Amino acid sequence: MTESSLPVITLDGPGGVGKGTVGQRLAQRLGWHYLDSGAIYRALAWGAEKADIDLSDTQALVSLAKKLPLRFAPDPGDVCRVIYQDTDVTGQVRTESCGRSASRIAAIPEVRAALLDRQRAFRQPPGLVADGRDMGTTVFPDANLKVFLLADPRVRAERRVRQLNDKGINAIMADVLQEIRKRDEQDATRRASPLLPAEDAIELDTTSLSIDEVLNRILELYRKKTDRPASGR
Ligand code: DC
Repeated sequence: MTESSLPVITLDGPGGVGKGTVGQRLAQRLGWHYLDSGAIYRALAWGAEKADIDLSDTQALVSLAKKLPLRFAPDPGDVCRVIYQDTDVTGQVRTESCGRSASRIAAIPEVRAALLDRQRAFRQPPGLVADGRDMGTTVFPDANLKVFLLADPRVRAERRVRQLNDKGINAIMADVLQEIRKRDEQDATRRASPLLPAEDAIELDTTSLSIDEVLNRILELYRKKTDRPASGR
């Protein structure tokens, strides 16, 4: 099987829509690899800050992006660990401030281009579930199934607050909602790979669906699309 014929399911959509949780569970169910592309942008933002790189210094960001000392470690829980230079930075990269910086550097076309190969390298046998903003449009345009997840911003904010609280991080609903709206606007209006569904993506509104319902719908869509059983290996 050539690399490009390996199956890929892309999950794109705005922040807090459930891509991460759904993506990881979907990958587990199928026995496939999982790519959290947002974590790459977050780790780059985090690394840039540690290296005192100005977020408007495109050249320095590109050179860090090309040799980013980042790896993901599987975790028995839901969260995939983010390891930067042998340090576990999972908690640090998940903060709102790191998300804000990630969104800023993600708007730079040269930075996005520098991260393309690293993302595509996750396409390994037996398959890949990739989540992000441009997985279906730019990174894996030949994906077998492209899902674009949507949800009411208020519901997304509630989910994010719950997620942060579960991690022991205090979060205020109004602030998170404002942050989500601002990030949506920034991600959707940037010139490089804006947050948009691919033409052949299937839109799935998760506002009133549970994680399991979303998961089952995606497995069903994959089964229909490929005529393959929606179970693992
Ligand atoms: O999904 P996330 O919140 O972890 O992503 C963090 C930021 O990275 C988000 O504001 C947009 C950006 N991003 C992107 O531009 N393209 C991706 N494929 C993934 C994330």
